[in-house]
Amino acid sequence: MQSVAWSLSLFLMALITAAFVIVCRGAAGERELRNPYRGRAVVFALTLIAGVLITLTTLSPWPLPAYAANPAPAAKVIDAVGHQWRWDLSESTVPVGKPVEFRVTSADVNHGFSVYRGKTRIIGQTQAMPGFVNRLRLTFDEPGQYEILCLEYCGLAHHGMLATITAVAE
Ligand code: CUA
Repeated sequence: MQSVAWSLSLFLMALITAAFVIVCRGAAGERELRNPYRGRAVVFALTLIAGVLITLTTLSPWPLPAYAANPAPAAKVIDAVGHQWRWDLSESTVPVGKPVEFRVTSADVNHGFSVYRGKTRIIGQTQAMPGFVNRLRLTFDEPGQYEILCLEYCGLAHHGMLATITAVAE
């Protein structure tokens, strides 16, 4: 039994070695004949077309919130100004279930205005930029406290830029 296994192993090893030798010889012969640049333009064109098609199909619908095209009046407007290192909010309560518009800007450097429900769930965010006012429209579905943190590194006490806002059922 052992001698059969040994013979079979030798035969299979010889077969694999022969296959390697044949493939190596074929590849060496082909390398001399083939133009390495042949087909490059075709590959480039196909990649370009695939890239454009994938981009167009995955970007649709465009990532713009519906209110950007047709803004409904906000129930409340809150001015939010970022400073190193605090948030100034014109109000600290919002109504539950109604659209609230934050008008967000910065007094110094770029900050990231983000509204959290709990410690891990962001319900909306926008940049706070000096010289610009970015509008962020949010509807607070549940009553309770929401935290506003900074999502853009803005210096030593970036982590301390924290404000709270309370959603109240009306
Ligand atoms: Cu403000 Cu980070």
